[in-house]
Amino acid sequence: MHGSSDAAAPPGLLIEGAASIATLAGGLRRGAAQADAAELSGDSLAVAMWGDRLIAAGPRAEVQRQIEAGGRSIDDFARLDAAGGLVTPGLIDAHTHLVFAGTREAEWQMRSRGAGYLQILKAGGGILSTVAATRAASDQDLLAGARRRLAEMLANGTTTAEAKSGYGLDIATELRMLEVIGRLDREGPVQLVPTYLGAHAVPAEFRDRPDGTEAYVADVVGEQLPAVARQGIARFCDVFCEKGVFDDRQSRLVLTAALEAGLLGRIHADELVPSGGAELAAELGCVSADHLAAPSEAGVAALARVAEAGRPVVATLLPATSWFLGAHHFAPARRLIDAGIPVAMATDLNPGTSPTVGLPLVMSIACVEMGLTPPEALVAVTINAAHSVGLGAELGSIEPGKQADLVVWDVPSLAQIPYWLGGRSARTVIKRGQPVFERG
Ligand code: NIG
Ligand code: FE
Repeated sequence: MHGSSDAAAPPGLLIEGAASIATLAGGLRRGAAQADAAELSGDSLAVAMWGDRLIAAGPRAEVQRQIEAGGRSIDDFARLDAAGGLVTPGLIDAHTHLVFAGTREAEWQMRSRGAGYLQILKAGGGILSTVAATRAASDQDLLAGARRRLAEMLANGTTTAEAKSGYGLDIATELRMLEVIGRLDREGPVQLVPTYLGAHAVPAEFRDRPDGTEAYVADVVGEQLPAVARQGIARFCDVFCEKGVFDDRQSRLVLTAALEAGLLGRIHADELVPSGGAELAAELGCVSADHLAAPSEAGVAALARVAEAGRPVVATLLPATSWFLGAHHFAPARRLIDAGIPVAMATDLNPGTSPTVGLPLVMSIACVEMGLTPPEALVAVTINAAHSVGLGAELGSIEPGKQADLVVWDVPSLAQIPYWLGGRSARTVIKRGQPVFERG
């Protein structure tokens, strides 16, 4: 697809013949703007990129004019025919537990017979069974499993993903997970944003102590975090702030130390019951509060206040998790949007509560169960997701100067992305200006 076979591919690429381009230009969305995908439509739309940067998007004649104004000839660009499809920014999966070993289908079936998620964790299963499998796995096993999932993510249109540790819960395995994430990011093509999640659960070796949770929090703050900061891979620190796991005081201790160590903050906030997670995210200036399936009124008000004050915390919702948990209880997305809180969405890819790689499926669930419109859902997995991972200035929209991460879809309208339930409509995926996936 890249010019002639005997010459090196030129650094320029021109996508032509798109029916529609959802540019998502214009920055973080909240309130009514959550529905604005900044869509262009017309007869002959094009997107131009040079090297890894976008240079123009719009009517083809206008794109050509901008190319020439930049001192280049359109003949210097390889061509890609969008064939009447839709072009969007590459999708961004802002919350994943990409690296793990083992599967948990037995626990899933126990849940459908009535066992609770935290009840299974208390009995030493759930997250802790994945911890045991992950500690026992070799680096090669962890890499191979994650590579398979990354290939599927790419085929679903994902070009960037946040990826957490949190199945080690000891220094050695937490650092090893971050090492694996760093290596997969260097391998590409999917770009990864590494997050340290030492406070995901209290590991077996601390649980039998009367002060187990406190002692483990001290280990996270005093031993693990300094080692993670020295290692220099993690950008974010996350905490599972949930009644029965880490309470808001313990979560505050971990996140305060993380912010002091130079990491950005995010929280597994109020996934099952109101636990003070939303309030804590607003108080500490976290970049994102994730889940929010059960925030308190005060938590929603706190997130609305910081958004209004120009210090927004992104609400990163994970509807596939609520659905797979059979919770019949989804994050109050409409209420959050109406309150002026920017909403992103992600898969939460993990072996316990969300074994899926597909953001288009997440968009479908959000439209059906949360009442989002397709443009609101697309905003949530592009520009707002970019902000959720701290990369809003670089990724998430089709604007000159941003990184050239794009998807050419096999469908003509953005509503058809979530409409084809479980569909795989991504036809060509471009990362840093290079086609890296082509549907066979
Ligand atoms: O986001 N709730 C905590 N963490 C994950 C699940 C991890 C697991 O069950 O392995 C979540 O749902
Ligand atoms: Fe999660």
